[in-house]
Amino acid sequence: MEYTETIKVRTTLPLIPPISSRDEILTPRLLLRAPRLSDVPALHLLRTEHEVMKHSVQGVDKTLEDTIRSLDDSLPPNDTKNYHFLIFERDTGELVGKGGMHSLLSRRFGWPEVGYSFKQAAWGKGYATEFMTGFLESWWSLPRKEIEIEVDPKSVDAEAGSTPTIVELLTAITDAKNVGSVKVLEKTKFNKFMEWKGVDNREASFGQDVIVLGFSMAAPLKESS
Ligand SMILES: CC(C)(COP(=O)(O)OP(=O)(O)OC[C@H]1O[C@@H](n2cnc3c(N)ncnc32)[C@H](O)[C@@H]1OP(=O)(O)O)[C@@H](O)C(=O)NCCC(=O)NCCS
Repeated sequence: MEYTETIKVRTTLPLIPPISSRDEILTPRLLLRAPRLSDVPALHLLRTEHEVMKHSVQGVDKTLEDTIRSLDDSLPPNDTKNYHFLIFERDTGELVGKGGMHSLLSRRFGWPEVGYSFKQAAWGKGYATEFMTGFLESWWSLPRKEIEIEVDPKSVDAEAGSTPTIVELLTAITDAKNVGSVKVLEKTKFNKFMEWKGVDNREASFGQDVIVLGFSMAAPLKESS
């Protein structure tokens, strides 16, 4: 689903550092860093797992070229439009997941949107929650600029026409049946603000009815000095 009505709001958006000056993020067990072309073979293993990729529109990668193409949105010259990371176990160095902000002005809500996927062997260890905790800390500490953008009115509590000032949101979207993903969002303090029935556009479940949930999180208040 894409939004049909919009409301113009005054808000902020982050100034995303290019990959060349982007810091790695360390969490207790994970290292998050920007993708490199040399990661393609390891990323291909994740992107060819059906149980992981059935949640994405395009499904599993068919060839190594698909995996290379998947990095186009993250690598220069597109690197300042995304804040996307590959996720490695610190003790083994293995690539176990990918995630981050993949769409600065998402076509669903107009706000930045976050997502994540982990190899099946890495599920159930708390990694997604740990990734999101580290990612969110970094995301909200990026420098910001003021901006006017068009967003889905259901994401904000405001009347159209007045260009209200709205605290910046980060959004996420998930299939209601994806209990693990819903729990990750709830555990990392996202709030469900929308639910709708749609027709699935993901390759693995194309054409089926799906209940979709929209989540958002507001920028934390800055501590006054
Ligand atoms: C969804 C996904 C990211 C969860 O990753 P994870 O590392 O296993 O998540 P966590 O270990 O941090 O789990 C967070 C909570 O969800 C629960 N959970 C995780 N998967 C679950 C499942 N399939 N069913 C029920 N609960 C689940 C965990 O038990 C935990 O809850 P708890 O702290 O109360 O025990 C992972 O399953 C995945 O990559 N799936 C495929 C891709 C995908 O769905 N991406 C999201 C698309 S919106």
